[in-house]
Amino acid sequence: MRSLIDILELTTDEINELLDVANDIIDNPSKYSEKCHGKKLATLFFEPSTRTRLSFEAAMYELGGNVLGFSEAQSSSSAKGESVSDTIRTVSCYADIIAMRHPKEGAPYVATMKSRVPIINAGDGGHNHPTQTLTDLLTIKREKGRLNGFTIGFCGDLKFGRTVHSLISALSRYENIKMVLISPDELKVPEYVKEEILDKKGIEYREVTTLDEVMGELDILYMTRVQKERFFNEADYLRLKDTYILTPEKLNSAKSDLAILHPLPRVNEISVAVDDDPRAKYFDQVLNGKYVRMALIMKLLEVR
Ligand code: NCD
Repeated sequence: MRSLIDILELTTDEINELLDVANDIIDNPSKYSEKCHGKKLATLFFEPSTRTRLSFEAAMYELGGNVLGFSEAQSSSSAKGESVSDTIRTVSCYADIIAMRHPKEGAPYVATMKSRVPIINAGDGGHNHPTQTLTDLLTIKREKGRLNGFTIGFCGDLKFGRTVHSLISALSRYENIKMVLISPDELKVPEYVKEEILDKKGIEYREVTTLDEVMGELDILYMTRVQKERFFNEADYLRLKDTYILTPEKLNSAKSDLAILHPLPRVNEISVAVDDDPRAKYFDQVLNGKYVRMALIMKLLEVR
């Protein structure tokens, strides 16, 4: 039985296979409509979510399966003081697979030790978010036709942004990728990501503080929200939240085939005027998320 806690638990071949299945689902959805008939997915969300939880649920319904779960810790026995371990032991008696999001780093990993069924990490604190990464990879593959040979800029909250950490990990295994890390000093990529991923894999990267100085070099721009819920004090959040705001004017110096990604939710960091630019791909990303999650649920349930 396999879970998915960190994107690097999947080999490159397995990732490529998941993306191929997702593309096949996009082309032939009816082929997949009964694949998970009689199976149940539990979504246990101890933190807010719109896309991740609903795309998991839509994915399971589109596979012919069923869904149970909770969307806030307050409506579960966690509010009475139950531990994650006990909650997981319980839910794994009812469901065939569990997608969970938790504010504590490592909580989904702890869950795997108590669960009878596969666990999918749907985001753990400021750490990892592997299914968003599959979504991002599918979007890059569909937009660029490849997962190698490009320059990607990560912009915003690179410290607490778990989607950034997971995507950097995944891309570090593909050839000839340059990374530009654009953030205020306070929100730089954590040292452990630099040491264990970027340096170890010999990735060409540099850190800058303004978007304008690098815009023209980028093939992909990955914008992120400043992660308000992870700040220790509000004053720091307020000072940093609007450091980068992408506007149509800022895109004047960008490549004509730039792909602008964002895991969403967006707050202020991309002006709505950018949505009409053909380079804006963040809503395509939302749709892709459902298909990769369908492919992943099938893989972990060992459904062919
Ligand atoms: C992201 C997350 O939860 O980490 N959202 C998502 O799952 N698409 C990004 C964010 O909340 O900023």
